[in-house]
Amino acid sequence: MEKLRPAIQTITDDLIDKMLAGPNPAELNEALSLPLPSLMICELLGVPYEDHGFFQEHAGVTNARFKTPEEAAETTRVLREYISGLIEAKMDDPAEDVLSDLGTRVREGVLSMEEAAPLGHILLVAGHDTSANMITLGTALFLENPDQLTLLRQNSDDPKFVTNAVEELLRYLTIPHLLARRAVVEDIEIDGETIRAGEGVIAALPAANRDPQAFPEPEKVDLTRKASHHMAFSWGPHQCIGQQLARIELHVVFSTLFRRVPTLRLATPLSELKFKEDSQAYGIYELPIAW
Ligand code: HEM
Repeated sequence: MEKLRPAIQTITDDLIDKMLAGPNPAELNEALSLPLPSLMICELLGVPYEDHGFFQEHAGVTNARFKTPEEAAETTRVLREYISGLIEAKMDDPAEDVLSDLGTRVREGVLSMEEAAPLGHILLVAGHDTSANMITLGTALFLENPDQLTLLRQNSDDPKFVTNAVEELLRYLTIPHLLARRAVVEDIEIDGETIRAGEGVIAALPAANRDPQAFPEPEKVDLTRKASHHMAFSWGPHQCIGQQLARIELHVVFSTLFRRVPTLRLATPLSELKFKEDSQAYGIYELPIAW
């Protein structure tokens, strides 16, 4: 993932150049938060970026909390059909990307298309919406917490400081509100409650990340705190596979954005913004910013 850092830096700088050359105020999701991780995941998977409107819309449905089972099934079907089509095309004309690798495994009989397509699907959806929400919420957090922004500005050239700051942002914001879902395989007892084998559970990652025993004064954002034991990427065999990419994207964005745009400010008060309370991945629908 480290090898991708220069490309992430170039894309971030290009997007900021484009934003600064365009209308002021701008909307951050559109200008930076969505295109950066979308361009990166497209490059890794071999998905055409021109299709971003299509897959970003379906990612929104995938993460929506109140969708019907029919809507969930339909959005999954459409995305898997799209990914299968791309894998099939790459079986004839492979490139250096993940979908081509999946195509090779399908051709060799190691995976069926029914196994390969969901892998491409989850990488595409998980690979852009999550990082995008972190970039937008993180920017809003800095603009609302001038002391932490000053600290970031003073240390934005210190990779150790920024690496640690990213962990604290991941802890404090914990955008995956409902993502760590599990089926219980044997009866377990937690705090006097028995959860039976076969029942479903949601491990509340935001609660773990605000546990005062793990993080003293958990409601306080403190970029100097040691927070790398947070659960924002979950835990165990299914913890986030893209976490190292996400960390580098966040590192590059937060050490670049406020340096490149020193007068950055919210163009609409935070209290007037619409937060993604209806999504499994927390965020802000639109973040108008000015400079
Ligand atoms: C800040 C950004 C991100 C956050 C907070 C995040 C968080 C998470 C969480 C909480 C899970 C659920 C794990 C579980 O069920 O226990 C997960 C799974 C996953 N994430 Fe991420 N993620 C981020 C970025 C990414 C990126 C950039 C990619 C792809 C390159 C990615 C790919 C995946 C995949 C494929 C899974 C499923 C893993 C599995 O079920 O084995 N994520 N992520």
